Amino acid sequence: MTTRDSEVDASDADLDRLRADDLTSRRDYLRIAVTVSGGLAVGGIATAAGLFHRHGDGTAEPLRIADRIDPGQSVAFAYPGDEDWAVAIRLADGTLVAYSSICTHLACGVLWRADRGEHGELYCPCHEGVFDARTGRVTAGPPPRPLPRVIVEERADGIYATGTARSDTAAEGGR
Ligand code: FES
Repeated sequence: MTTRDSEVDASDADLDRLRADDLTSRRDYLRIAVTVSGGLAVGGIATAAGLFHRHGDGTAEPLRIADRIDPGQSVAFAYPGDEDWAVAIRLADGTLVAYSSICTHLACGVLWRADRGEHGELYCPCHEGVFDARTGRVTAGPPPRPLPRVIVEERADGIYATGTARSDTAAEGGR
């Protein structure tokens, strides 16, 4: 074998390797695309079927959150999951309400301010978002959606979170 022959052999071998790499890359790309598409499809179906316990699906187990809450006071808790931060508030008129305290804008923590307006307000300090304490609806700032509602219920032994709902749906319990 001459030097020239070995150069040709090396080039052929390189070309074969490149073709194999290219084929592998395409195969890998297809595998990734199929895996991601499949994952998205399964996630979408699971969400549609209500398999995930998140704010708005109304399927979590009841959780005792306080002995009592006095007018103007609030209690922070997590529901339905350990990181689903929420706040229960006794409004001045005695109404008990509860919402997710995760801002619908960029997920900052929402604060209860009893001293604002006739009914108080839920305030997000990150971008001055404000939510109506009676309904969870946005009254100022950039949040695009109302705060999800946590359904609360007063029982003989305390106050319980019993489910979740969107704020544009009727409250169940919580009075
Ligand atoms: S994160 Fe709440 S207003 Fe932007």
